[in-house]
Amino acid sequence: MTSAGGAGQDADLPLILTALQAAGLSAQAVAWDADEPEWDGYDLAVIRSTWDYVDRLAEFLAWADATAEVTRLRNPAPLVRWNSDKRYLLELAGRGVHVVPTRFLEPGGSCDAADFEGPHGVVVKPAVSSGARDTARYEPGRRADAEHHARMLLDQGRTAMVQPYLPLVEEGERALVFFGGTFSHAIRKRPLLTEAGLIDNFRVPHPGAVPYEPSEAELRTARAALDAVPDPGDLLFARVDLALNEDREPVVMELELIEPNLFLCINPQGLEHFARAVTTALT
Ligand SMILES: Nc1ncnc2c1ncn2[C@@H]1O[C@H](COP(=O)(O)OP(=O)(O)O)[C@@H](O)[C@H]1O
Ligand SMILES: [Mg+2]
Repeated sequence: MTSAGGAGQDADLPLILTALQAAGLSAQAVAWDADEPEWDGYDLAVIRSTWDYVDRLAEFLAWADATAEVTRLRNPAPLVRWNSDKRYLLELAGRGVHVVPTRFLEPGGSCDAADFEGPHGVVVKPAVSSGARDTARYEPGRRADAEHHARMLLDQGRTAMVQPYLPLVEEGERALVFFGGTFSHAIRKRPLLTEAGLIDNFRVPHPGAVPYEPSEAELRTARAALDAVPDPGDLLFARVDLALNEDREPVVMELELIEPNLFLCINPQGLEHFARAVTTALT
């Protein structure tokens, strides 16, 4: 499943269609909001490049619930809903997973000046987001600017997140991809927030992505994150994005269970794993 804007940008999509056809399946790319698609005519609906959902979250979640009524939706609708709001990081942390330390600020609530202190500055971002939208980092001493950013989000009725800036992202962020709960492949990419104090909603989301061999510690943290997902049994795909904290320990930046880029273009073995997981989901 894709979207009007996503189809042209999703480099994995043509590869996926070819791989599924080679596996003997009949597969089509359909926009999630296409006019009257008959989802009950499909044995399986796999969410892929529905990259416009953030601005239409309620509509998208209602669509996921309705689609899950008539066909197998992957990932399952309750997990799509759970994963759409980064407050899930609190749940993961509560279950012992190492996540980026995060302060969530709610509309109508107060901001404490102490929230905006970090030895390397802070990152402010909305709890519902993708592609680093409405996200910026602020250098130490720029507390007023960071607080202003958070206030702007709160005034829009959005939950804001404040995190310490993790400078080791400059060595590269990692994204580990799992299919059917099994590790498939990983990538490393360059950091996004290269310029402090700037909100830029047209950033390249995965600059310089290259295949990457994760460390044992990274694999352990990613697996712990997946094990902490409520009812993860039917997860067809998952991407765990990790950064290193100042002690060089991997921490979860986000868990992508809705529409992650899977980097199959640069990981051909991942394409086979994906096709196999789809075949399994159909049985
Ligand atoms: N605490 C942080 N420290 C360093 N970089 C960050 C931090 N939070 C976000 N970023 C940068 O911003 C990007 C987007 O943030 P992320 O939490 O992945 O949200 P999303 O991808 O959903 O917009 C990350 O890939 C990373 O480059
Ligand atoms: Mg991200």
